[in-house]
Amino acid sequence: MNKPDNLQRRKLYLTSFCLLATFATTSVSVHAAEPTYSRDIAPILQQKCQSCHNPDGIGPMPLMNFQQVKPFASIIKERTTARMMPPWHNDPTTGIQKFKNDASLSQMQIDSIADWVDAGAPEGNPADLPEPIEITSGAEWKLKAQLGPPDVIIKSSPYDVLANGQDQWWGPDVKFDGMPKDRWLRAAEFKPSFPLGKKVVHHGHAVLVPEGSDGSFGSSIGLARYGVGKSWEMYPEGTGMLVPANGHIAWNLHYFPVGTEVKDDVVEVGLWFYPEGEKPALETRGEQLFRVDGLNGMARGQDILIPPHGYQVLTGTHVLQSPAIIHSYRPHLHMRGKTMSMEAIYPDGRKEVLSQVNKYNHNWQISYMYADDVKPILPKGTVLQFTSVFDNTANNPLNPDPNQWVVFGRRGVDEMSHAWMGMTYINEGQYEQAIAERRAATETLSLKPQE
Ligand code: HEC
Repeated sequence: MNKPDNLQRRKLYLTSFCLLATFATTSVSVHAAEPTYSRDIAPILQQKCQSCHNPDGIGPMPLMNFQQVKPFASIIKERTTARMMPPWHNDPTTGIQKFKNDASLSQMQIDSIADWVDAGAPEGNPADLPEPIEITSGAEWKLKAQLGPPDVIIKSSPYDVLANGQDQWWGPDVKFDGMPKDRWLRAAEFKPSFPLGKKVVHHGHAVLVPEGSDGSFGSSIGLARYGVGKSWEMYPEGTGMLVPANGHIAWNLHYFPVGTEVKDDVVEVGLWFYPEGEKPALETRGEQLFRVDGLNGMARGQDILIPPHGYQVLTGTHVLQSPAIIHSYRPHLHMRGKTMSMEAIYPDGRKEVLSQVNKYNHNWQISYMYADDVKPILPKGTVLQFTSVFDNTANNPLNPDPNQWVVFGRRGVDEMSHAWMGMTYINEGQYEQAIAERRAATETLSLKPQE
């Protein structure tokens, strides 16, 4: 297929803009012949980049003004056209496309940046600049703007992270007795200390082991799970997770030294509950592990064996024993990971791709949180099929060594293949009701539920 040349592309761009302009509510800028930083690019960077690319953020360089942006113009074009930045690795052409936390650029924004860079990255008239936005400090709860301060905060016990060395794991047990009675959880956020904790905490879990339980995997409650790119979780309206008042928190923290010693690091988790006495209609289990050793039907860890300069494809299936709603999808592979897809095979044999992460990048653990009006509502008997593809060739930019055989393991240079799935299992009545509500809410379903 011929690629449209620049002029054609601009024409397409103008046409699509004209269509969109009627509906645009926020800072869509009028696209004149030549985009400028002040008028066209600054609003995009504000919306999609500055939350990380600010002086205290996790991005390697601030992108707050023209002087800071200009030297990076060409690499910005490169990373945005390749859809590597902002970090959002979902395939925009396959599966469900509406998410609560979509960080991606629209094609129009990507083209705008490319055109601007091709035109020599002009500044334009500073009078066109948008009002600066307020950057939330890394010391703040991200969910605070939406939900206010957390109802309960739990803390890990202090840990000294070495300046240099290998991965470090820290798993303290901390008593949990912060609540007079059981409560229904609505949202949780995992917050490493700021600024240093944000740099050294690679991933972590805060799991509540209720008083009197045997501590087994099934009896414990994952309150918050974190990875770079995923710090909070909020259940759909009317869905909650029951949190017993007493027990202990089993922390599982994975630290990675970054050249600076971090003394007494403490991680916090904020919990937001439904009002006391209010019971949400649906009870969720939160993020469930669909694991490589066959738990919940992923391919098994010991099946991972990737040849040097080669590929491997692993598939696993899981049959739903009751109807279910999936509210989020978070694939986890390591450095050779390339794609992971999730398909549904319905009881009538119809097959549909629900989601496909096609630019998996081990540096990021992104939870793709489905918008409420498109989240999959699946009947009992649906087969979920997961497929992971590993690329151990030199074409994979993250590959540390294509000459190695690669097997399962915890380190980033070994491989894994699992997904964390936000699951709410429901009964037949709740399923009928959810489907009826979906029908009523929308005529044209982007995801057709079962008849
Ligand atoms: C969620 C945080 C986050 C957001 C949002 C984000 N970035 Fe980044 N960016 C990073 C981090 C962290 C890195 C370094 C690691 C990496 O490349 O994955 C990075 C790397 C980059 C690089 C490569 C820098 C280099 O010298 O290698 C460019 C260019 C870039 N970002 C541009 C952007 C642009 C443009 C946007 C918005 C359209 C954006 N980023 C949005 C966090 C972010």
